[in-house]
Amino acid sequence: MDGNGRWAQARGYPRVFGHIRGATRVRPIVREADSLGIKALTLYAFSTENWLRSESELSILWKLLKKYFQKELNELKQKNIRLNIIGELERLPLAIQETVNPMLNELAGNTGLQFNLAISYGSRREISQAASYFAKDCLTGIHQPLDMNEELFQKYLTTNKLKELSDVDLVIRTSGEKRVSNFLLWQSAYAEYVFTDTYWPDYTPKHFREALFEYSQRERRYGKVKVYNNELNTL
Ligand code: FPP
Repeated sequence: MDGNGRWAQARGYPRVFGHIRGATRVRPIVREADSLGIKALTLYAFSTENWLRSESELSILWKLLKKYFQKELNELKQKNIRLNIIGELERLPLAIQETVNPMLNELAGNTGLQFNLAISYGSRREISQAASYFAKDCLTGIHQPLDMNEELFQKYLTTNKLKELSDVDLVIRTSGEKRVSNFLLWQSAYAEYVFTDTYWPDYTPKHFREALFEYSQRERRYGKVKVYNNELNTL
């Protein structure tokens, strides 16, 4: 959800106005994903690097998150949406943890859209933690170093419990930046990317549908070559 600061600055407002407006863009996208029958939607709200922002910006972000959680519980419940937080929830202010933890429990059994919010999330941290958990299991004899393979490594990722996250199909980045910024690096190995110049505070369900349409036109080969029907006939 990038471009909040620039959206505000372009209008002569303080950066945090972009976050305030950006927070209102979340609900329509969640509704759209739900009504289109998408299995999982992950929004990147706050990275491990975002902790370096000013205290005043952080404090607005925490207020917006808390308010968002308080406001959305009923709708998520009604729509059978499950909410998951990926990232270091335990690092967030206690007030947020106290708001969101009971909510996570309440929605845990929901079987509709899996709505993941990445907060204080960083993919390199997730991957390096996985390596250290595996090393620990080697020390205690649960595994041997040569047991390691891709399937096993994935089991040590903190997001592994969210099955729908194991292979990301599409990553959309707003605001004209063409970077991945430490987002689900392992899980996006074969993801398609759509970049849009639109700043997150201006992002609408129409933009979202356009990105999905672009995705639907892509041919996913997973490193293999396309086999044409006439080639098949000559084999
Ligand atoms: C990146 O834009 C955005 C963030 C670091 C925060 C995103 C937060 C929200 C949209 C609001 C709270 C979230 C929810 C789920 C209610 P930026 O500030 O880096 O923008 P810039 O690159 O233009 O400076």
